[in-house]
Amino acid sequence: MHDITAIAAASPGATRSPNFLKHQRWFPTIYDLRRGAERRLPHFAYEYGDGGAGADTGIRHNWAALDAVELVPRYGVMPKLPPVEVELFGRRYAAPLGVAPMGSPIVVWPGADKLLARAAQRARVPYTLGVAGGATIEEIAAIAPDVFWLQLYRFAKNEHAIGFELVKRAEAAGVHVLMLTLDVPVRTVRSREVKVGLGGGGAFKPDWRMVAGMVKCPGWAVAMLRNNLPRFANIQPYAGPNASLNDTIRFARKEMGGAFSWDEVARYRDRWKRPLIVKGLLHPADAEKAVSLGVDGIVVSNHGGRQIEALPPPIDCLPAIVNAVGNRATVMMDSGVRSGTDVARALALGASAALAGKAFLWGLGALGSEGPGHVIDLFIDELQSALGQIGAQSPAEARSVVIRHPGALRF
Ligand SMILES: Cc1cc2nc3c(=O)[nH]c(=O)nc-3n(C[C@H](O)[C@H](O)[C@H](O)COP(=O)(O)O)c2cc1C
Repeated sequence: MHDITAIAAASPGATRSPNFLKHQRWFPTIYDLRRGAERRLPHFAYEYGDGGAGADTGIRHNWAALDAVELVPRYGVMPKLPPVEVELFGRRYAAPLGVAPMGSPIVVWPGADKLLARAAQRARVPYTLGVAGGATIEEIAAIAPDVFWLQLYRFAKNEHAIGFELVKRAEAAGVHVLMLTLDVPVRTVRSREVKVGLGGGGAFKPDWRMVAGMVKCPGWAVAMLRNNLPRFANIQPYAGPNASLNDTIRFARKEMGGAFSWDEVARYRDRWKRPLIVKGLLHPADAEKAVSLGVDGIVVSNHGGRQIEALPPPIDCLPAIVNAVGNRATVMMDSGVRSGTDVARALALGASAALAGKAFLWGLGALGSEGPGHVIDLFIDELQSALGQIGAQSPAEARSVVIRHPGALRF
């Protein structure tokens, strides 16, 4: 008879942090981390990371669509927990799971970008720096050289001068994968951000409620003192030598925006010789178009429910996109992924990997610097259990299970 804990601890690819069991005692799931983050963070910080467009309906739909996917197990085939290592774009990773790009995660937890990068490097899973993040390309290259992906938004002015300069910096810094985000053609309103005073208008003006929130959360305040004010680290140099945070915010609002057109994707394809991904597709015809331009990967995503609420959950679009793309590109998904079981659902429906955004922010909120590592540990543990339970001997084998998927979209 096998003891399941012993099997998990001995499983290949397991790179758990030394404090895993201590953290697991209080936060056995990512759902618990979300509750912990809400308790521990200043209110404005939690609202920025947790909120979606409108009344959060898109977020709820993403969760419900994943919850509705059922996997029919096969027994008698699974003597031990399976390894979950994968190859993505020619590199080995510890699991088919990565950190999705985020702009200003430092609002949720000061120093967030670097903490996420460090945890991803330690665990050997992909880390995607958001171009609107709080650390520079060069800083992250030093922290996470083996797992470094970079996301770009569109800077179209002067023939994409800033965008192409960022591409050069990425190349020099050893970024392995470049990810172009296509799903933000317009800015939309996230009501929870607006209500806490982060709603835009081109300036960051902490009001008394924000300051009171910071003071009430000592862990957050100490992290803030160690890391200084939030900043758009990659954009600041282009906003002028002495640009303040608000100068940079105004500059970014003016210069960064609109979705990449397919012509522009083709131009980036020309310039960037390493793997290129487009993020934010939901329609198989768009996936076909991306593949026809020589893109290497696609992230099926609705931006985690942060754009408009009427977008379908990516998990429901995934099978049609996988079917359209075949083996011509690597298809991944994000939006709503909150457990290793969700990752298993994505794999079963044909994804090569899943990314997560908010789960990592909840980890930071609940456990500070140790949070991202705990989120990765939970994902990997749960994924191994889920694959073991359904009788898949590897991430790839998850595709052969019988699936009930009531929301699957047919195009
Ligand atoms: C606070 C926050 C900021 C984000 N900023 C960006 C961004 O700058 N660029 C981008 O492509 N996606 C951004 N996203 C979307 C994520 O990359 C990802 O698609 C989404 O978080 C996945 O859904 P999940 O949060 O349910 O995991 C952001 C998400 C969050 C939560």
